[in-house]
Amino acid sequence: MPPNASYKAWEMFALASLCTVIAQSNENLVPCAFKPLPLGSVKPNGWLKDQLTLSANGLAGHQHDFYDFFTRWTWLGGTSDYSSFREGFPYWFNGLVPLAYTLNNEHLLEQVDWYNPKVYIKEELNTLPVSETEPLFAYEHGVNVGQGLRALAVFRRVTHNDSLVQMSKDAVDWTFKYHGAASGAILADERLAGLAPYYGSETCTLVETMYSLSYLYQALGDTSYAERCEKTAFNALPVQLTPDWWARQYVPQPNQPYAKHLDETPFWNVNQWGQSYGLEVDYPGCTVNHPQGYPKFTAAIDTKIDCETEYPFSDILTYTITTKSAFDFLVRVPSWADTSETSVSTGSSPTAVKTDSQTGLRKISIPSGTTKVTYRLSTPSIIQ
Ligand SMILES: *[C@@H]1O[C@H](CO)[C@@H](O)[C@H](O)[C@H]1NC(C)=O
Repeated sequence: MPPNASYKAWEMFALASLCTVIAQSNENLVPCAFKPLPLGSVKPNGWLKDQLTLSANGLAGHQHDFYDFFTRWTWLGGTSDYSSFREGFPYWFNGLVPLAYTLNNEHLLEQVDWYNPKVYIKEELNTLPVSETEPLFAYEHGVNVGQGLRALAVFRRVTHNDSLVQMSKDAVDWTFKYHGAASGAILADERLAGLAPYYGSETCTLVETMYSLSYLYQALGDTSYAERCEKTAFNALPVQLTPDWWARQYVPQPNQPYAKHLDETPFWNVNQWGQSYGLEVDYPGCTVNHPQGYPKFTAAIDTKIDCETEYPFSDILTYTITTKSAFDFLVRVPSWADTSETSVSTGSSPTAVKTDSQTGLRKISIPSGTTKVTYRLSTPSIIQ
């Protein structure tokens, strides 16, 4: 994001309003459809582990060692910040904590170890001048829209107003209908402008969209959010980073012909470096915010469950489950899968259990001891 961009004020405004709503409302929150598992209890394998490890060994894990915004950050007593919102440090921290604990990586754990929950941004929100918190493009900035998709689900937990469930669904569906790419990205050359594939999508927009969609699935249990989240994670995000995770693009486009400096750009608020790879092309915001994408996508269970799979590059998932007491295990069947040919089997006999139409989940009863579950997805071609 550009330095001193006042329309980012919307995000701050939303946070400030949320604080007010929380203060005024019933202290009992509506429980989430799914309980989150403790941080670090899901350990990825295969492709996802590779991506997270590359991220830890790349830009995300080393910014703290050399980047001026970290070495002399205002949050750490220095004078270096790229915007008056002082957002850079919290953005980075937000991604580094789940990355450090998911990988149990010592170098990263050291970086986030100093954290003291008493240091909190609230006071700053209350003292920001109105000139900075007056939104210019309240509903139009790509990153803020990505962040805002989860807002109604949060408000609903606080206010107990169930009409917000459908409003959330409409907000997400309409955003993708009018501004979504086939890759799962929300298109915006900073500002939402339609479906033209040359607008591209900021790296920040993608990671915020992914977090909102996984939060929405967790809070409301509607399978469409999980499906959208996977689509963004597997199709849109990988191209934003170099394969070694040391450089990122700013706004890659679905029809991007090359990654290079442009003499002229068709973009609204994206400069000539917007579709090249580097440390802070165009702006530092996505450099500090990119690390949260995959760590927050990695969900988390007390019982030991190993999943072997090449998914999304293959359609078979093999789980080895060891548990002291029997429990119900749930696998999500995406709505794009051909359910007549999608099967789950424990041992030799396929289990015919109906999928819940709201959550997309299929229940499998697991006895105590060790059970092997083979889940085979049938994937028809989809034309979009
Ligand atoms: C619930 O939310 C809807 C949508 O914002 C609003 O119109 C309605 O007044 C709210 N209901 C209550 C009881 O606050």
